[in-house]
Amino acid sequence: MSHLRLQLAAAIMALAVAAAAAGFEFNEATVDAIQLGFNNGSVTSKQLVLFYLDQITRLNPLLHAVIEVNPDALAQAARADAERATGHRCGPLHGVPVLLKDNIATRDRLNTTAGSLALLGSVVRRDAGVAARLRAAGAVILGKSNPSEWSSFRPLTNSWSARGGETLNPYVLSATPCWSSSGSAVAAAANLAAVTLGTETDGSIICPATWNSVVGIKPTVGLTSRAGVIPITPRQDTVGPICRTVSDAVHVLDNIVGYDALDAEATGESSKYIPLGGYGQFLRMDGLRGKRIGIPNGFFTKEKYGKKQLSMYEKHIALMREHGAMVIENIGTTENQTEVKNHLFEIDLVAMKAEFKLSLNAYLSDLLYSPVRSLADVIAFNNAHPKEERLKDFGQTFLTDSEKTNGIGPRENTVLKILNEISTDGYEPRLIEMAYAFEQATKVRRMPRFKH
Ligand SMILES: *[C@@H]1O[C@H](CO)[C@@H](O)[C@H](O)[C@H]1NC(C)=O
Ligand SMILES: *[C@@H]1O[C@H](CO)[C@@H](O)[C@H](O)[C@H]1NC(C)=O
Ligand SMILES: *[C@@H]1O[C@H](CO)[C@@H](O)[C@H](O)[C@H]1NC(C)=O
Repeated sequence: MSHLRLQLAAAIMALAVAAAAAGFEFNEATVDAIQLGFNNGSVTSKQLVLFYLDQITRLNPLLHAVIEVNPDALAQAARADAERATGHRCGPLHGVPVLLKDNIATRDRLNTTAGSLALLGSVVRRDAGVAARLRAAGAVILGKSNPSEWSSFRPLTNSWSARGGETLNPYVLSATPCWSSSGSAVAAAANLAAVTLGTETDGSIICPATWNSVVGIKPTVGLTSRAGVIPITPRQDTVGPICRTVSDAVHVLDNIVGYDALDAEATGESSKYIPLGGYGQFLRMDGLRGKRIGIPNGFFTKEKYGKKQLSMYEKHIALMREHGAMVIENIGTTENQTEVKNHLFEIDLVAMKAEFKLSLNAYLSDLLYSPVRSLADVIAFNNAHPKEERLKDFGQTFLTDSEKTNGIGPRENTVLKILNEISTDGYEPRLIEMAYAFEQATKVRRMPRFKH
């Protein structure tokens, strides 16, 4: 090889290295990496939005994780970029594209429908409390994720909505992505957004986060405002982050918690749990040390799970012990606890059906405009559109049972007493410490490969 060609090759290699250093890695980008990229000029908010829109265009026809994209997302990103250029003090979510589950209201060109055709065209008075907080933090509202909330609350276990279709699991397309925040979880897993919000009533953040290898935080009820969120029951509904890393989820949580006058009782009550200085301080490598983790008897058994899952489970338990956790297995449960556990869902449903009617009717009657104004209207709408709402497959017994209820009576009160007795405080800082230490020790997350 001549001297010149060698020099040329060296120069090209140097160029390539420089390009790689300046180049921003969009896949798996974390909130911290994005802010670093904004600061060192390797990426702009507009470029991020373009990347995610392209991902959505390519992958959403397969995954059905996104129900709508925001026509104003690029303009919002441009504004964030301009603000940054003027030396505006920017928080961690400034310019970061977020996807909201479609039961979280936004007062913009996006619809808020909980996946139901019945609510298409309804007009909300204002942003949901959590959406308003994200906007105030300078986040870019990228769009809405596909929910399977009450429009298909029939039964709980599907991940389908009339407007968005069926959400698929990006790891194994034939496997369920699990329950109603699966659109957000799948979008996070497949890099369709930087971060997402989901909601949970009964497992809808935890389950899809688990099945899609992402991090979901189900906050204590009232830690995040439910104002402007299409409800199931104020007793259990909660809004939380679903993200690719614990640190990202903590950034989002920090930005959405707090008092909201429109959800005053619950947010007022839970505000006392918000730690001074935010949740970031709990991202500790040694977060498992000294933690006592109890595993109830019969929770993870050969009968319920396969051999592979069981050996992975045992490996992870061993790892937690290695990192200083005290894991206590086979915790016995009292007969009463077992009885309650076995019937928890039925017990819960009694209260939930009465609460659903009350809270949905309140949400619908507060809208500026809506084609449906009550649960009875929704039921009638579904009956009039049996094909679109797949009545044959899913029925709508939850909705019709709920319609038959008449407020909170003696039966509901008995059930609520039991539920109050068995629920205890969860405490986010401890969970975050353990989750972060576990994540850093395992680095278990891989990008999805869309296997059949
Ligand atoms: C800028 O920050 C990103 C991390 O977000 C990094 O990947 C990239 O290499 C950095 N570029 C320069 C020129 O420092
Ligand atoms: C909202 O729904 C209407 C149909 O009623 C549709 O025309 C519009 O494009 C939707 N908005 C977005 C942002 O997709
Ligand atoms: C189990 O429930 C019954 C009926 O509510 C109660 O009388 C009993 O004390 C409970 N037992 C325990 C061990 O909590």
